[in-house]
Amino acid sequence: MCDCEGSLLSGAGAPGQRNTLNVILGIGTDLAEVERYRFDQERLAWFARRVYTDEEMEYAMRKRHWAERLAGFFAAKEAARKAFGFAIPWREVGVSHERSGRPILKFFGAASNLPERFGVLRLHLTITHTATTAAAFVVLEGA
Ligand SMILES: CC(C)(COP(=O)(O)OP(=O)(O)OC[C@H]1O[C@@H](n2cnc3c(N)ncnc32)[C@H](O)[C@@H]1OP(=O)(O)O)[C@@H](O)C(=O)NCCC(=O)NCCS
Repeated sequence: MCDCEGSLLSGAGAPGQRNTLNVILGIGTDLAEVERYRFDQERLAWFARRVYTDEEMEYAMRKRHWAERLAGFFAAKEAARKAFGFAIPWREVGVSHERSGRPILKFFGAASNLPERFGVLRLHLTITHTATTAAAFVVLEGA
């Protein structure tokens, strides 16, 4: 049974909320240089079509420092690829947020059931960003 809602896998909650130890099925991390995500209008439109989900674009473009968010989302996609061990199409994995602001991964299209196929029970994502660099880390937890 997957700790998820539809194709959405939430994190495990705050440390201490769970005390069962599961198997780490995969980890992935990535750094992204924010400067490379300060797109002009044309590149922004291209990335919105080919790389980012609608939710990611809406979230980032609401922020003054939107390039930091786009860099963080890209790092999260790369980290997810590394954790699962293959190139998940860019728009089939995207970052969403819980009410607290905590980031989570959502899967779409052919990747909708990817966590279940890999036996992932819980999926953890953390993102951090500065004016110059964004980083993401993903952990896949199974039974
Ligand atoms: C969440 C928090 C730790 C972010 O730290 P920060 O040094 O300001 O910023 P960072 O660049 O390292 O991290 C920002 C990212 O953290 C993530 N984040 C936000 N809220 C989060 C939360 N409650 N839990 C985990 N991650 C969170 C988001 O991905 C965020 O990126 P975004 O602003 O683009 O959405 C900080 O804002 C905070 O302490 N908030 C209030 C308390 C809280 O919710 N704490 C929970 C985590 S200890």
